[in-house]
Amino acid sequence: METYVSSSFPGARPRRLRTTPAMRRMVAETRLHPSDLILPAFVREGIAAPVPISAMPGVVQHTRDSLRKAAVEAVSAGVAGIMLFGVPEDAKKDAVGSAGTDPDGILQVALRDVRAEVGDDLVIMSDLCLDEYTDHGHCGVLTEDGRVDNDATLERYAEMAQVQADAGAHVVGPSGMMDGQVGVVRDALDQIGKEDVSILAYTVKYSSAFYGPFREAVGSSLVGDRKTYQQDPANVRESLRELALDLDEGADMVMVKPAGPYLDVLARVADAVDVPVAAYQISGEYSMIEAAAERGWIDRDKAILESLTGIKRAGADMILTYWATEVAQQF
Ligand code: PBG
Repeated sequence: METYVSSSFPGARPRRLRTTPAMRRMVAETRLHPSDLILPAFVREGIAAPVPISAMPGVVQHTRDSLRKAAVEAVSAGVAGIMLFGVPEDAKKDAVGSAGTDPDGILQVALRDVRAEVGDDLVIMSDLCLDEYTDHGHCGVLTEDGRVDNDATLERYAEMAQVQADAGAHVVGPSGMMDGQVGVVRDALDQIGKEDVSILAYTVKYSSAFYGPFREAVGSSLVGDRKTYQQDPANVRESLRELALDLDEGADMVMVKPAGPYLDVLARVADAVDVPVAAYQISGEYSMIEAAAERGWIDRDKAILESLTGIKRAGADMILTYWATEVAQQF
C-alpha cells in the first residue's frame, strides 16, 4: 500500500480555537451566571420537617422555616429570584381553590415570610394558578359539565394576583393558560395600587408529559389532562400568537415552558421580543438527569451545566431550574 500524501490541507482550522481551556473560555459565546437563575420552591402547609419529593431527588416540600433558609442560601449564592408554589393541606382543597385567595393561605404566608427574610435581595415570584388548590387538580374552576371555565377562572386569578401582591410578591407568574389572564391580572394589580408588581407570563406553555414529577411535588390529584388549555407540542406558530397576545395585555417578561424539548420555540420567541425571556427547566427535565446520573449513565454535574448552557444559548435571559442554588454556588 502506498503512503497517502495529501495535496490539499484544510484551509480553515476551527480546532485552533479549541486547543486549551483558556482559549475555549475566551471564545465561549454563552456564559451562565448566577443572576440568570431562578429557584422554584415548594412550601407545604402543616408539616414539621421538609418532605423529600421521591420523583425529584434532592428537592423537598419546604416547611415555612426551611423555605426561609433556602431563600437565604439562594441570596448568598447570587441567585436572581425564587418562584414559590404553595401546597395546602388536603382538607383545604375545594372546587374553586379557595386557599389560593385566602390571605392566610400557605403561599401568601410563605411570601410574607420570604419577603421579611430577604427583602429585596431576591426577586420574589409567585405561581399564579389554581391547580395546587383545587380538589379536582385543574388550573381553573369548572363548568357544570366539567370543562375548565375560562372567564370564571379569570375572576379567581384577579383575586389571586391581589392577595399575592399584598403578601409581598415582586412578580406574579400567571401559569394557567387561560385566555386573557395577563390583562386581567394587570388590571387587578393596578386597581389596588400595585402598579410596580410585574408579570412574568407563562406565555408559551405546552401540555407536557415532563410535568409528571411536579404532580407529586404539589400533591395534585389531577385526573385527565390539560390539553384544552395548554398547548399542543406539535405547534410553534401558535406560540407566537400567544406571545403577541400576552405582550399586548401587558406582560413584563415572558416564559417558555418546558425548556429543553422546546429550544426551537425559545429561540423563535427570543428573536421576536424586546422584553426579558425566561425558560423553565421543569420537573421532568430535572428528574431525567438525576435518574440517569444515579444509575451512573451520565456525568451529573456536566449534564446539568450543559442543559442550562443550551437553554441560555437558545435565547433565555433567565432560567428557572431546581438546581439554581447548587449551580450558582459553583461561581
Ligand atoms: C401550574 C404549574 C405547573 C408547573 C408549574 N406551574 C404544572 C402544570 O401546568 O401542569 C410545572 C413545573 C414543573 O413541572 O417543574 N401551577
